[in-house]
Amino acid sequence: MTLSIRKLDAALGAEISGLDLSRPLAASDVGSIEQVWRERLVVVFHGQRLSDPELIAFSRNFGELDPPGPNPYGEPFNKQHPELNVISNVVENGKPIGNLGDGEAVWHADMTYVEVPPKAAMLYSLEVPPPEAGGNTYFANMFAAYESLPADLKGAAEGRIAVHDASTNSAGMLRKGYREVTDVRQTVGARHPLVRTEPKSGRRALFLGRRPNAYVVGLEVAESEALLDALWAHATQPRFAMCHQWKVGDLLMWNNLSVLHRRDPFDPGTRRVMHRSQIRGNERIA
Ligand code: SIN
Repeated sequence: MTLSIRKLDAALGAEISGLDLSRPLAASDVGSIEQVWRERLVVVFHGQRLSDPELIAFSRNFGELDPPGPNPYGEPFNKQHPELNVISNVVENGKPIGNLGDGEAVWHADMTYVEVPPKAAMLYSLEVPPPEAGGNTYFANMFAAYESLPADLKGAAEGRIAVHDASTNSAGMLRKGYREVTDVRQTVGARHPLVRTEPKSGRRALFLGRRPNAYVVGLEVAESEALLDALWAHATQPRFAMCHQWKVGDLLMWNNLSVLHRRDPFDPGTRRVMHRSQIRGNERIA
């Protein structure tokens, strides 16, 4: 079978078909996937059947795996393969089998609260709610967001550094070992510029990470809140985004440093189970 690529009718995203990701891939196919990932930022595969070792093997084509960040329960969800994360609302024997529950996961990029965040993430769906039950995932293109910023906002973001909160996950749950933030000037997490230059292309992108508890270093809290609110309102407009409605066997791979993503809440009476890997980054944000 030969690989084929279809750009989505959105500011980012492309579907790749004609590949069985459970098998070793030719170097040329890995190169094509990487190129689509670089250019379209989100790669969508359908109809896959992957065991955990197969998901790990596919992910390793793109670099070393980065283990999941700390979760609210303080132990890995996938004991056999702790390098994988589990995203799920399912509770078995009184214990959640995965992270994030059934609520909204707010716009964020993964683990930007560390100095060198993962460069890519993959999410593979094992069980999904029916389409009318919610749980869609959205991605927004941060190159497009930066390039279309009004001049005053571009100027206000230029040269500014923000703190990226490590204390809560995208569902707002406190991670094990962290305290609730009551003053954003005390937020714990990595500091990165609000504008990132992609080393390979020299293109600039907004680098916002996550809104809760963020703080722009050196500004009064009210000024920081106003600047962040304006940047986030701009960056999360539907014109920069795509929506993915899940089917079982979908695998999405995204360019974590160049997109934000969020997830709709879904009917708690349904089951959603996804396994997730992420690829270690090699870039200090600059
Ligand atoms: C995530 O933020 O990694 C989870 C997205 C989803 O559940 O669709």
